[in-house]
Amino acid sequence: MLDKINDIKKEIQNFSIENEEELEAFRLEFLSRNGKVQSMFGLMKDVPNEQKAEMGKSMNEVKNLAQQTFDDAKIAIQKNDKKEFGALDDITLPVEPTYSGSFHPLTQALNEIKQIFLRLGFSIADGPELEDDFHNFTALNFPPDHPARDMQDTFFVRKSDDKDVDDLVLRTHTSPVQIRLMKEQEPPVRSIMPGRVFRNEAVTAKSYFQFNQVEGLYVNEKVTMGELIETLVMFARLMYGSDVKYRVRPSYFPFTEPSMEMDVWWENEKGGQWLEILGAGMVDPNVFQSVGVDPEKYTGFAFGMGVDRIAMLRYGIDDIRLLYDNDIRFLQQFKS
Ligand code: PHE
Repeated sequence: MLDKINDIKKEIQNFSIENEEELEAFRLEFLSRNGKVQSMFGLMKDVPNEQKAEMGKSMNEVKNLAQQTFDDAKIAIQKNDKKEFGALDDITLPVEPTYSGSFHPLTQALNEIKQIFLRLGFSIADGPELEDDFHNFTALNFPPDHPARDMQDTFFVRKSDDKDVDDLVLRTHTSPVQIRLMKEQEPPVRSIMPGRVFRNEAVTAKSYFQFNQVEGLYVNEKVTMGELIETLVMFARLMYGSDVKYRVRPSYFPFTEPSMEMDVWWENEKGGQWLEILGAGMVDPNVFQSVGVDPEKYTGFAFGMGVDRIAMLRYGIDDIRLLYDNDIRFLQQFKS
């Protein structure tokens, strides 16, 4: 009897199951109602009582072996099939996390600013990042060798000794786009100029050698300082909320006269503080002259703001360098 059991055991072990057909053949041979395992148990009635326990144990082992062999082979075959067809192992398993992209916080802040000025009737203008001295400085009423040029730590790309060859600079502000616009287009002009600008500043949590600006220009007959302030207040309300606290202060820029700056009140743990958000002013008549716009006929206002500062305030970012590191762990926090 024991031999018989061992024979079945060997048969099970030697049975090759490579595919569905062989799996089914195995099932019929061993596990079906008329299969060898079942008929083996049928022999139990001939076993003397004192051996029943031992034989039962051996038979159960064989039965478990058959079942286990069947189950393992079934899984292996299914896996193989799936590999062949590229199917999923189990569609109910949780998927590997994948990260969808999102807009950079600077892009998000810039988009908001653009939306606001589009609503206020401004179009969007663009210009080169590599500028000549004329557009970046001279046309904007920075006299040659005047200390006003030191206000902006300039990256010079080409310094020329030849009077007829202009210096080349990485633009230090987007104001040169105003010059290009006015040269191309008769007033009225009402545009904003977003873009990247460069200054040779030490890299710290608060300053960087590049940042993003949005400047604005409105030129028409009878444009007033009142309209400038009204426009800026509307911007501040739309950007920071209708209850924003703001103030305007006199300031100085070579290209505007009079010039001003605008601050907003920023609440923080320590109470709050005034933060400068933009510079502005009435376009200096010298600027109009350099681009051939008649300052007797037209007036205009201009303003400029840093997008980085706005994004940092909006999202509570305390280090400007984070905006340029492209660290995915940082960027993933700004899903819109
Ligand atoms: N161009 C100035 C700057 O970069 C900002 C500004 C623009 C100020 C227009 C007044 C008017 O600092």
